Amino acid sequence: MKHLIIRHIITIFSIIQLFIIASCANHERNFIIGVSQCSDDEWRSRMNKEIMREALFYPNLKVEIRTAKDNNREQIKDIEEFIANDVNLIVVSPNEAKAITPVVEKAYDRGIPVVLVDRKITSDKYTAFVGGDNYLMGKQIGTYIANRLNGKGKIVELTGLKGSTPALERHNGMNEVLKEYPSIEIIATTDAAWLKNKAETKFDSILSIHKDIDMVIAQNDPMAYGAYQAAKKSGREKEMLFVGVDALAGEKLGVELVADNILDATFIYPTEGDKVIQVAMNILEKRDYKRENILSSALVNAGNARIMQMQTSHINTLDEKIEVLNAKLDTYLMRYSSQKMFLYACIVILFLLAVLLFFVVRAYWTKIRLNAELSKQKQQLEEQRDQLIDLSQKLEEATKAKLAFFTNVSHDFRTPLTLIADPVKKLLNSENIRDDERFLLNIINKNVTVLLRLINQIMDFRKFENGKLEMHLSEFNIKDCMKEWAEAFRTLAYRKHITFKFTADDADYNVIADSEMMERITYNLLSNAFKFTPKNGNISICLSKNAENGISMKFSDTGVGMPAEHVKHIFESFYRIDVHHAGSGIGLALVKAFVEMHHGKIDVKSKEGNGTIFTINIPAKQDGKIYHDIDRKAVLNNLKEGAVVMAGQESLSAENVTGKDRDASNEGEHEAVVLVIDDNQDVRDYVKSLLSENYTVIEAANGSEGLKLAIANVPDIIICDVMMPVMDGMECCKHLKAEPRTSHIPVMMLTAYSMDEQKIKGYECGADSYISKPFSSELLMARLRNLIDNRNRLKDFFGDKVTTSTTPLADTDKGFVEKLRKLIEENMGNTDFSVEDMGEKIGFSRVQLYRKAKALTGYTPNELLRIARLNKANAIIKTSTEKSISEIAYEVGFSSPSYFTKCYKEFFGESPTDVLKKK
Ligand code: FRU
Repeated sequence: MKHLIIRHIITIFSIIQLFIIASCANHERNFIIGVSQCSDDEWRSRMNKEIMREALFYPNLKVEIRTAKDNNREQIKDIEEFIANDVNLIVVSPNEAKAITPVVEKAYDRGIPVVLVDRKITSDKYTAFVGGDNYLMGKQIGTYIANRLNGKGKIVELTGLKGSTPALERHNGMNEVLKEYPSIEIIATTDAAWLKNKAETKFDSILSIHKDIDMVIAQNDPMAYGAYQAAKKSGREKEMLFVGVDALAGEKLGVELVADNILDATFIYPTEGDKVIQVAMNILEKRDYKRENILSSALVNAGNARIMQMQTSHINTLDEKIEVLNAKLDTYLMRYSSQKMFLYACIVILFLLAVLLFFVVRAYWTKIRLNAELSKQKQQLEEQRDQLIDLSQKLEEATKAKLAFFTNVSHDFRTPLTLIADPVKKLLNSENIRDDERFLLNIINKNVTVLLRLINQIMDFRKFENGKLEMHLSEFNIKDCMKEWAEAFRTLAYRKHITFKFTADDADYNVIADSEMMERITYNLLSNAFKFTPKNGNISICLSKNAENGISMKFSDTGVGMPAEHVKHIFESFYRIDVHHAGSGIGLALVKAFVEMHHGKIDVKSKEGNGTIFTINIPAKQDGKIYHDIDRKAVLNNLKEGAVVMAGQESLSAENVTGKDRDASNEGEHEAVVLVIDDNQDVRDYVKSLLSENYTVIEAANGSEGLKLAIANVPDIIICDVMMPVMDGMECCKHLKAEPRTSHIPVMMLTAYSMDEQKIKGYECGADSYISKPFSSELLMARLRNLIDNRNRLKDFFGDKVTTSTTPLADTDKGFVEKLRKLIEENMGNTDFSVEDMGEKIGFSRVQLYRKAKALTGYTPNELLRIARLNKANAIIKTSTEKSISEIAYEVGFSSPSYFTKCYKEFFGESPTDVLKKK
């Protein structure tokens, strides 16, 4: 949500930015003009100023001015750089025409427009020219000389740089006029390169040669002033007149020199930098322009110098004002543009604030709404929490009450149990009891031991919970002791074919601990291991020293293991994994309590189907009072015995499947077969002792084993426990009822649970009857007989021989009967058709077919086949007149007519011949 808002704001901001940039952008093209000046003097600087001032009127124009300081090479370099920098137009005032022409041509050829100012080149590869007409000016000078000297006199000419065009043109113009005045003599002409100092030096030498000079004509004012100063030095300045060119206003410049009578006259040579830029911009912006822009000239002498000075100073003031205005305009423009930017920024910020405000308001409303929902939920949760607290308090109280009751009851049980245990032991020791009596007494003895152990454990756990379980510390060698304690399971290991190992290294295993607690930990963990480890498994105890020099005990087994979700709960009191892992749920909780009392830790690793490892780590020496003669052997013996018996009783597989495995050929002497499925050996033994007189008993220790036995043996009835390891009774019953070979067998559930919902569940699985433990032997026998009889009465296989059936056929069974009937009808005429063929066609073994057919119809498959043949023969006899007894016998599949006659008589009570005769 937050990211989305930020993304929106960024997008809006970018759009606005683009908008601002676009609106600020100048749509005119930007231009760069490079100006290359040949010299660096007052005349040039005036022109440069005018250029820059004019450029201000073109905001898209940038002007770069370079000065070559009367050096050709420098100027060529400047122009080359302009070309390289891709300027849009070059303004050049060439120092010397010949030298500068090639580089100007190069620029021109490259397509860069070139505007020549003041001076020219020797080619016409230029775009435009802006400057005075120097030839005309020369002529004006000539005319002025002639007039001023009245057509007679001696003059000295100081020219500008020879290679520059104004110098030559002015000279030619002047000579053109003076040709007409032969009395005017040019006594000396010298090149002073437009420079004042040079003119001063050169004129100094001329002065020394020529004693008579009327006028000095200098091609610019600086040179005229230089000559004047040279003359002044020799005190001859009054002898001659000085004339210059340029007529710049300003201190010690042309106009002032004339006004001060230093110069006789000067000629205006306009700079007009503004004009240069105007022409250049016309070219660049593709407007019409004149190629030759000739600027006019005028004479300045004593008569107009003062006016000109005034005018020029006025113009200068105006210029300055313009500059000030310009600067102000610049400032205003800057201010305007920054205010414009500020305005845009304000708009953007306002917009962003509006967006932000929108989101804030939205978020605020959402928050209010959510808060309302949350507080509603909170209120609900609080109500639920209060209810839960209330409930858990009630539960706790109930649990406490239950536990207290349990403990009290346990306590009350102990005395009578001891009083049963002792006499039973005495009875067992007596020699006058029968084997069957000894068998029953053994069962009593074992179970009393188990009960006593359970009761002791419960009471200890209560003591622990109430903080009343005390430690009785003593010093002993735990390795020796554990070895001895483990020995108690040796016989069981042998009986269950379990490899049982105890390993420990040679370290010092003397400990200070509660030996009884250690012993009980050992019994409990081993009892569990043996209970859940099947035949041929491995169980081991490994004793070692841990990193803190404490004792580490590892109990590993290769048993059924536990699912991961249960592992973390197994130390909780009364926690039961599931029906496969029957137990009181107190043993492990007690083990953990003992370990914690020893400041140790117990850890379990288990994987379903892969076994379990319990690891206990305790410090070797416990602090506290040490007792020296502890003897609680009586209780311990009981616990030990109980643990071993418990582990042995609840086995994962029946060690010996007893009972006569009936052979299908034993058809005559039918003795019903009962399959007893229970994980408790004693229960199996007891039920077996009840039934063995009248039934053949086979047994299995869990659902999965039971299912296999049922399929292989097809018993007449199954008695099945609910809580069993590997596969529980419900699941087993479901499988039995879904399997065609066993679906007909009545199943009687035998369980410690007497709750109705458990019964319903049992019936849902297809159980036919339900008997709760503890059960009375009479009830069990009566139910059993009833169920078997009901099945036996079902004999309506042939439809015409209807008998009462109290138990309706299951769908699977109906299918089986139908199949069998069809098969017999189809093969009746086939003498070779045997029971084996019948089984093969139906997918059952001979024994399975025999049992199933017998159980459902009361007849063996052979009998069914024979009866069908006899019925058919009877029908033929009754309808046909032509067929003989032998023919009929063969037709219905009898191989011998005499055997047919015998069977017929047995079944129908009269011989076939008599029936035929009667007809
Ligand atoms: C300035 C200048 C002027 C002269 C002109 C001729 O550099 O020397 O005095 O009139 O150049 O190009």
